[in-house]
Amino acid sequence: MSKIVSIHSFRGGTGKSNISANVAAQIAKDGNRVGVVDTDINSPGIHVLFGMDEDEMTRSLNDYLWDKCTIEEAAYPVGARIGKGEVFPMNGEIYLVPSSIRAGDITRVLREGYDVGLLNDGFEALIDKLKLDYLIIDTHPGLNEETLLSVAISDVLIIILRPDQQDFQGTAVTVDVARKLEVPNLLLVINKALTSYDFAALKKQVETTYNSQVAAILPLSEDVARLQSSDIFSLRYPEHPFSQSIRNIVALIEAV
Ligand SMILES: Nc1ncnc2c1ncn2[C@@H]1O[C@H](COP(=O)(O)OP(=O)(O)OP(=O)(O)O)[C@@H](O)[C@H]1O
Ligand SMILES: [Mg+2]
Repeated sequence: MSKIVSIHSFRGGTGKSNISANVAAQIAKDGNRVGVVDTDINSPGIHVLFGMDEDEMTRSLNDYLWDKCTIEEAAYPVGARIGKGEVFPMNGEIYLVPSSIRAGDITRVLREGYDVGLLNDGFEALIDKLKLDYLIIDTHPGLNEETLLSVAISDVLIIILRPDQQDFQGTAVTVDVARKLEVPNLLLVINKALTSYDFAALKKQVETTYNSQVAAILPLSEDVARLQSSDIFSLRYPEHPFSQSIRNIVALIEAV
């Protein structure tokens, strides 16, 4: 049985795309076939972490939604691209369905919208055609129709928050929605925590506030920022605390 994992946050810039790409890479490293779909149609970005540029993305999720191709035709094997020339051993494979970065495509979606139901059909087809063990969905921040759909069909929902009062409030809304939609496994991930914080106390505080498990706390890291989303951090620096926390998240996902 394949598992669908949605990675969400109420506010933007929390680290969804970086964490999605790192989680996908670690799961694939363990020997799994992993699909990654960028459902952030308004402001796509995860393709950058897998080293894809605009010219190479001849097909995208947009083309599937506009009935120009099947979803598997918009899926690119990206495992071998990771590492900018350096090879990181990977026993499985990662297939990325990018969202279009072309201005005309983005404005067309904003103007015309699309049938959100097609996303669900697309996820199922992708899992079936590419024989995926895991499907990771990187989302647009906040609550919208795509997010509600991805939350509703997830086996695991990961909600990312920073230790910030704005994030705390927004996360409460998302957790509430996830409960109403009866997501079977809800995990919170705290990202960009100052290293001077007491991580154990922070974990306890957040778990009590939301009555949900905190899967990991990832430090605010100059090393992560310095990579500028140009590579998969946890493959390049496996011993770093950020990478260890990514593996903690992966262990929980694989145990579901
Ligand atoms: N733990 C961290 N320490 C330092 N910088 C980080 C950390 N995690 C992510 N970043 C940086 O934060 C920025 C935003 O990350 P990312 O694009 O993954 O967030 P996002 O939630 O996908 O954003 P958006 O909501 O715009 O899609 C990037 O520049 C990334 O390098
Ligand atoms: Mg993102």
